Amino acid sequence: MEAANPQVDHAARHVVRAAVAAPSVHNTQPWLFTHGDDGLDLYADDRRRLPLCDPDGREQLISCGAALFNARVAMRHLGHRPVVRLLPDPRDPARLARAGWGAYAPPGAGENLMYRALWQRHTYRGPFRPTPLPRRLIAELRAHARAEGAELYTVQAPHARRHLAELVRTAEAVQRDDPAQRAELAHWTHPGRDGFADGVPLTSCYGPADRTGLVGRDFRHVAGALPAVPPVWPAGTGLVVLLTTPHDTREDWLRAGQALQRVLLHATVRWTVAAFHTQPLEVPWLREQLRTKLARGEFPQMILRLGHVPRGHATPRRPPDAVLTAE
Ligand SMILES: Cc1cc2nc3c(=O)[nH]c(=O)nc-3n(C[C@H](O)[C@H](O)[C@H](O)COP(=O)(O)O)c2cc1C
Repeated sequence: MEAANPQVDHAARHVVRAAVAAPSVHNTQPWLFTHGDDGLDLYADDRRRLPLCDPDGREQLISCGAALFNARVAMRHLGHRPVVRLLPDPRDPARLARAGWGAYAPPGAGENLMYRALWQRHTYRGPFRPTPLPRRLIAELRAHARAEGAELYTVQAPHARRHLAELVRTAEAVQRDDPAQRAELAHWTHPGRDGFADGVPLTSCYGPADRTGLVGRDFRHVAGALPAVPPVWPAGTGLVVLLTTPHDTREDWLRAGQALQRVLLHATVRWTVAAFHTQPLEVPWLREQLRTKLARGEFPQMILRLGHVPRGHATPRRPPDAVLTAE
């Protein structure tokens, strides 16, 4: 990265370091950034899109949207109001967003808590403690999703839970049965020793995934028979929620990513942890069933479990200089 204006370089690095702490599908970190004197641009890095599990780049753009939300939080932490434009150049579809350094206003206490949560948030994959989430927290999470143009629905009725569990299980079976999909997942999974800057370390896949109502993704490549959908919903499943958008455009995906990260950070502030189960959203006919039967006709973008456990481990990231260049 060239050092044109050392102060801007420093601020841009600060923002990008925070941005790359965002969750991304298989920890692919499918983003790139450029910076100039008046702001940063976020780009999709298409070399890091998953051709089999995410051919349209929907999950890639959700991941980039989550990184954009972190960038906004980090700009606020520095005291700037970010001025964000999504997809600012129709001739350049890879250019996903422009985040300008807006006017100065000191960050509030809530914004500082969000910034701190950004470093504390980690994906969890096992069962939760059987304590329910407070109703007030659920209402707050819903309001955060809505503020970014998405909706957050809880899946609590027994028939809806069962239906969702079956869709997740079917999707997982489809993906486990496909050697090419297994190879794609294996490419982004590693034992968790030093030397990896991306991908999912097996050390972050603790806990038996079948002690919850939704089967987990097969990061450990155990393949074999999938557990049946449990007749009684295990208490360790936590609260299951769907994040949806009214339409399914690239802009909706970026909004869903920002809503996802806003929900995850607020949950982190309230000592609540998330697990992801997005397998049925990667199989078009299962996603369509989910849309019509469980998501009130809206477009399902994420499936999460929320609950309480001690915070998990950080996963690796590429450093800011690997993804940031000067304009
Ligand atoms: C769009 C998207 C889909 C994801 N799907 C899954 C999933 O199905 N199962 C899972 O265990 N984690 C899933 N994740 C979580 C990523 O694996 C995780 O964010 C990544 O490994 C980085 O780890 P961290 O979130 O702990 O920082 C998903 C994340 C995103 C953004």
